[in-house]
Order: sequence, then C-alpha cells, then structure tokens
Amino acid sequence: MEVVKNIVWHNATITKEDRHRKNGHKSAILWYTGLSGAGKSTLANKVEEKLFERGYNTYVLDGDNVRMGLNKGLGFDAEGRKENIRRIGEVAKLFVDAGIIVSTAFVSPYTADRDMVRALVPAGEFVEIYVAASLEVCENRDTKGLYKKARTGEIKNFTGISDPYEAPVNPELTVDTGGQTLDESAEVVLNYLEEKGYIT
Ligand code: PPS
Repeated sequence: MEVVKNIVWHNATITKEDRHRKNGHKSAILWYTGLSGAGKSTLANKVEEKLFERGYNTYVLDGDNVRMGLNKGLGFDAEGRKENIRRIGEVAKLFVDAGIIVSTAFVSPYTADRDMVRALVPAGEFVEIYVAASLEVCENRDTKGLYKKARTGEIKNFTGISDPYEAPVNPELTVDTGGQTLDESAEVVLNYLEEKGYIT
C-alpha cells in the first residue's frame, strides 16, 4: 500500500469489474483531440447520443464547459493546458472507475499531456481519437470567431496560429471530419468501438 504524506489509498468495496458486470459493458475514455473548430465536441456528443440510445452508460466532458467550472482560471500557456489536461485525466479516470464510457473533447495539443492521461488507466481503456480537420478547414469554419481574433493578435497562444498542435502519431483512431458528414464520422467511431469489443 502506498502512503503519501499521511494519505492512504482505500480500495472500494464495489470494483470497476462489478460495475462492468452490472452495466453489461466495459468502461473507457474516448479522448478526442484536435484543433479548435475541428468538431471534437460535436462528434463526441453525436457518438454519445448513439451510445446512450443503445443503453450504454456515458458522459461527455467538454472543453469550454470544464474551463467554466472545475478548471476555471487556468490559462492557455503550456503550463495551464497541462494542468487542465491533468485534472480532466483524473476526472475521466474516476468516470472509468464508475463504469462509464466517458468522452472528452479538449484541444489537448501536447503529446506528453495526452500520454500522461493514457498512463493513468490500464491499456485499452484510453482510446485516442484524432479529429483531423486541417487548420484551413477549421479557420474557414471559424464557428466562434476565435481564429479571426487570433490572426489580429487579440487572442494570444491560439492553437494552430500562435501556439503548437502536436498531432497524434499513433492514435487508436483518426477521423477526418473535414471530408465527411457528422453521421459518417460518428459511424467510424462506433465501428471502431464494436470492432474492438467496447460495445456489441
Ligand atoms: S486545451 O489546450 O486542451 O487546454 O484547451 P481546451 O480546454 O480544450 O479549450 C479549448 C477551447 O477554448 C477556446 N480557446 C482556445 N483554444 C485554443 N487556444 C487558445 N488560446 C484558446 N483560447 C480560447 C476555444 O473555444 C476552444 O474550444 P474548441 O471547442 O476546441 O473550439
């Protein structure tokens, strides 16, 4: 048993495996990453809707929403983003422990930060989904008007413009939202989850 500064880990009576048995499905983190405007939230919500309809226990943690509450006050410099992702990773791990298929929709531009979350859960419980719309596509969409502000310098450290985005090298799945309809992209994710036995 690991003891950290007078804090002792307690094992729960009901285990993750008990919850999987009760729910009739495994839990996992579906980690969507991509540029602002790539369609992470839209896709995560569409996939969740379909899973939910089919009786799966699901939840979505969404970038803007989490930054309004749990992660209020964190910035967009590398340190702020790292802490943002660290906290979300820990929360997502709790959801996995609770037997839920949790989807997260965050830019999460740094490989090291995404890998930090991957390492939090057993192999197979972290599914990295690269929402791979190009900068050109995202900037043309500019759904929130943020690219325009980033170009004029009104927003600093904007991913893809004045801040880096490290594309996943070996993600579990890549979805090209630029060249597909939302339903087609959702099918790609659902097919993958079926193929790998997360859902039936
Ligand atoms: S990160 O990098 O994972 O910590 O970012 P995330 O928590 O997902 O927040 C991204 C959303 O915040 C808005 N926004 C910015 N994005 C990128 N860079 C900068 N500087 C920035 N400032 C604000 C933007 O609306 C992102 O939402 P999405 O849904 O990705 O468009």
